[in-house]
Amino acid sequence: MIFFKCIQSAIILYALSFFYATVITERKKMDKNITIRPAKPEDAEQFVLLENLIYRKTYEKILSSEVILRKEEQTSNRVLMFSDTHKNDKENICYVVEIDGSLVGYFWGKLHSSYEYYNSKGYADLIALYIHPDYQGLGIASKLKQIFVDWVKSNGATKFVIGVLKDNYNARKVYERWGGVLDNYTSEYKGCDEVFYTYNLEKEQ
Ligand SMILES: CC(C)(COP(=O)(O)OP(=O)(O)OC[C@H]1O[C@@H](n2cnc3c(N)ncnc32)[C@H](O)[C@@H]1OP(=O)(O)O)[C@@H](O)C(=O)NCCC(=O)NCCS
Repeated sequence: MIFFKCIQSAIILYALSFFYATVITERKKMDKNITIRPAKPEDAEQFVLLENLIYRKTYEKILSSEVILRKEEQTSNRVLMFSDTHKNDKENICYVVEIDGSLVGYFWGKLHSSYEYYNSKGYADLIALYIHPDYQGLGIASKLKQIFVDWVKSNGATKFVIGVLKDNYNARKVYERWGGVLDNYTSEYKGCDEVFYTYNLEKEQ
């Protein structure tokens, strides 16, 4: 009996310490000084390295290793092209999230989707949304999405789309949580199925 009581107490102690460790770690992350700002050319190297890290972590079980390696091999070229591919103007938006001087997330989007199917229907496109694994689940992506929505509306568009790999279930749950409607249209990215969530901003206040 005493033996079982000891085991029970040990389990309760373990659960409590795990709970408090998690809560305190999350709290420390929340207390950090988060800056969300438009991307600038000087961000190029950090941005591309962050993208490599998140891309590998997110897609290593979805995409082939060759696809991931090929992207990493193009790192210096992507850094060189950064100012052209990630800019802020009437057609494009790109924001980064900075914590204590380090980039931990970003998004970029276009006022007119690059997919002909959505472009012809007047959809803006939230092309990429990446948060460093240590900072996921803290509401950062929701803040970025709101910046994108405000920008889309202020430029006269009323709907946008997000494409996501069919097997990227974590991201899909987030897009569903935001009220995205899964479309019938599908595409293909590097040999994997891509699905699309659409958002109608006319319904928003
Ligand atoms: C998908 C991603 C951008 C979400 O960013 P995030 O900062 O963790 O998301 P948030 O904390 O803002 O959460 C947004 C909402 O989704 C919910 N959510 C977050 N992760 C979730 C999960 N795995 N399952 C269910 N719901 C989840 C949150 O609770 C929140 O809802 P709430 O405001 O009602 O509480 C981030 O996880 C990421 O970068 N993943 C790896 C890269 C990737 O897959 N990008 C998308 C490519 S298309």
